[in-house]
Amino acid sequence: MIVLGIESSCDETAAAVCENGRRLLSDVIYSQADIHALYGGVVPEIASRKHAEKISYVVSEALKRARVSPGDVDVVAATCAPGLIGALLVGANFAKACALGWDKPFVPVHHIRGHIAANYICFPELKPPFIALIASGGHTLIAHVRDYTGIEIMGTTRDDAAGETFDKIARVMGLPYPGGVKLDELSQGGDQDKYRLPRAEVAGDPMAFSFSGIKTAGVNLIHNAEQSGKQIDRRDLAAGIARSISEALVSRIFLASELTDERTIVAAGGVAANSTLRKMLTEGCSSRGLKLYMPPLSLCGDNGAMIAAQGYYEFKAGHVGKPDQNCYANMPINEQFGVGMFI
Ligand code: KG4
Ligand code: ZN
Repeated sequence: MIVLGIESSCDETAAAVCENGRRLLSDVIYSQADIHALYGGVVPEIASRKHAEKISYVVSEALKRARVSPGDVDVVAATCAPGLIGALLVGANFAKACALGWDKPFVPVHHIRGHIAANYICFPELKPPFIALIASGGHTLIAHVRDYTGIEIMGTTRDDAAGETFDKIARVMGLPYPGGVKLDELSQGGDQDKYRLPRAEVAGDPMAFSFSGIKTAGVNLIHNAEQSGKQIDRRDLAAGIARSISEALVSRIFLASELTDERTIVAAGGVAANSTLRKMLTEGCSSRGLKLYMPPLSLCGDNGAMIAAQGYYEFKAGHVGKPDQNCYANMPINEQFGVGMFI
């Protein structure tokens, strides 16, 4: 079964063609990062306009590179939540128009479920159940993935997301957008212990995260140093931040594994590209005898391939979208879109 997947929830206009949720035939991404870098972050209105400009080209290029024609496509899938609402609407409406014009089913996909599914493309043997960590610019989540579409939330952030924390501190340090990856580069070889940062703990809820304390402490360290004319060691601070955030993520992953007896761990989302996190996960899983799956860096960030992969499993579960399917800025990962035949 051939699925065309379309992603436009933030600042990447992306489309991919994937067979049976596993075999990637094409993967086209137009990144708007350079444009948003001028403003230090994503400007939603600009993002929507750029998606509208690029979507036709990106989708036709995905079909061309996969060597498939619209007639060969069995399902059209698109991200419908969560994300920037104007941005989501561009990709979802384009997908609905394709489905309508080609007389194919349309499948709405949850963006975070898509991030998990990036791993199905890279690892043919990977099957639920497992514990997943999804850490991106807007979300931080530990989930018990019981099957491809049955997902239980075990822990979320009470305030900022992990990626948002990286980005905010990077911005205050004067690093260009997108800050997370630049902070990661800066942290290489830094002393993780030089700057003490608060822990991301929430009293009474060992699975929850709170990153606002780390963010505020990092920002205050930089501002205080500036005001008192002291030099801050940027590399050591970057290393300390990476360590604090990664430790919080990794410790809850292992707790979730203990609570559920699951021995397979999956990492996903833009922050899963972080080198400190990848190292801690690799070492921690190896010492506990847990099997770890992490996508290559190219599939950690937003892409159409992950939407095509999850779209396949949603379709198999009967989750075909309605013609009036809307998009939502927020939607829990365990909620289902409304189901109904397209026409
Ligand atoms: O999944 P994603 O591409 O988009 C969202 O769904 O949000 O994640 C983007 C986030 C941004 O906050 C970005 O700074 C962060 O992932 N990120 C990183 C790294 N690469 C991307 N954070 C830390 N280290 C990285 N290497
Ligand atoms: Zn994402």
